[in-house]
Amino acid sequence: MLGFAILATLLTLTESCQEIRVKAEDGGVVLGRSLEFPIPLDFHMLTEPAGTKHEAHPLPNCPGAPFSFTNRFKEIVILGRFNGNWCNTTCDGINEAGLSANVLLFKDNAEYIDPSDISGAACDNAIPQTMIPAYILATYETVKQIKDDLESDKFPAVWAGDEFGAVLPIHFNINDKTGAGLVLEHVKGEGVKWYDNTVGVLTNSPTFSWHMSNLRNYPHFQRNDKGREGLKYSSQGEDYSYGPQWSGSGMLGLPGDYTSPSRFVKAATLLALAPKPATTNEAIVQVFHHMAAADIPYGVVETGPLDLAIFTWWTLVKDLERRCVYYRSYTDLSVKKLCLDDISGVKSAVKMEGRFEDGFKDISGELKDFDTVLLDRHSEL
Ligand SMILES: *[C@@H]1O[C@H](CO)[C@@H](O)[C@H](O)[C@H]1NC(C)=O
Repeated sequence: MLGFAILATLLTLTESCQEIRVKAEDGGVVLGRSLEFPIPLDFHMLTEPAGTKHEAHPLPNCPGAPFSFTNRFKEIVILGRFNGNWCNTTCDGINEAGLSANVLLFKDNAEYIDPSDISGAACDNAIPQTMIPAYILATYETVKQIKDDLESDKFPAVWAGDEFGAVLPIHFNINDKTGAGLVLEHVKGEGVKWYDNTVGVLTNSPTFSWHMSNLRNYPHFQRNDKGREGLKYSSQGEDYSYGPQWSGSGMLGLPGDYTSPSRFVKAATLLALAPKPATTNEAIVQVFHHMAAADIPYGVVETGPLDLAIFTWWTLVKDLERRCVYYRSYTDLSVKKLCLDDISGVKSAVKMEGRFEDGFKDISGELKDFDTVLLDRHSEL
């Protein structure tokens, strides 16, 4: 059993996670998000009714009642459990207005206000960083509303709250059903920063603006092959010519490793080159495939003093227009779906990991006589 002290150390060492956004021709906005983590958390999908109350932890220099807020909307959120306790941080979620908010690790770059520096009137509008997604999903309908509040200083001050006895360094990706995206970062030495997420990608450290500058190092990828005539040269009076033997050279050199900068470049490049899906359903399929290109299999990346594996615990795909979430966990590979319109007003939870045996369909009963199958195909043509 891992102790809280080791967990606190791990939080400072580990990072991975990614989110991407695709907008379909029909206007549907679909997000894909993966979670990679070395700590054995037991992830659950929760539903919260409108009216659910959240209360922040008391602050040392704020004598009144702790800051609290109430869900304006029904929500689906993801929370982890460790040693039987719910984590403070809402990892991801959507609300009834079609808004999505989540956290991705932001190691070494995050800095929040010291809780003891908050006093007086500031006490009435301050939350720990662990509560930001919960606050956003409870309060807002659109990215624009959040930007307006950030610009007019109405957004709460964010203090350094703890998770497993240490400050969890995170940044925030927020998207709405119009396709607008916002990255919110509390940057060491620079304060609160927010950016339009025009590229529709977020990974981990360093800052979003660093990743956007870095993207300019990689403008040269293309769908079609490079050097289609193949390799030609002359040597000692003889001409040699070799045609291409494989495809995919348009992406030659695309970073494929698991560092945060490389994952950002790869995800942004694939999204930029992929054709725009016609429908929201096509976008959901496309996003699952793009997320598969970012999948980390168990055991190939290890971190921390215990060499714990970082791997893709789950992949979440969110349809913001229809307000549905789809996900796949590590062992149960089937896709599960949950829609806000289909859930009651009761707070409920479902464990996200499932058994391998529950993740596939046995098709032996669907086998048809070979000639019948051929006839079927002919009749379709
Ligand atoms: C986070 O959870 C732990 C354990 O339940 C608790 O001690 C701590 O105060 C919480 N932190 C915040 C900021 O709510």
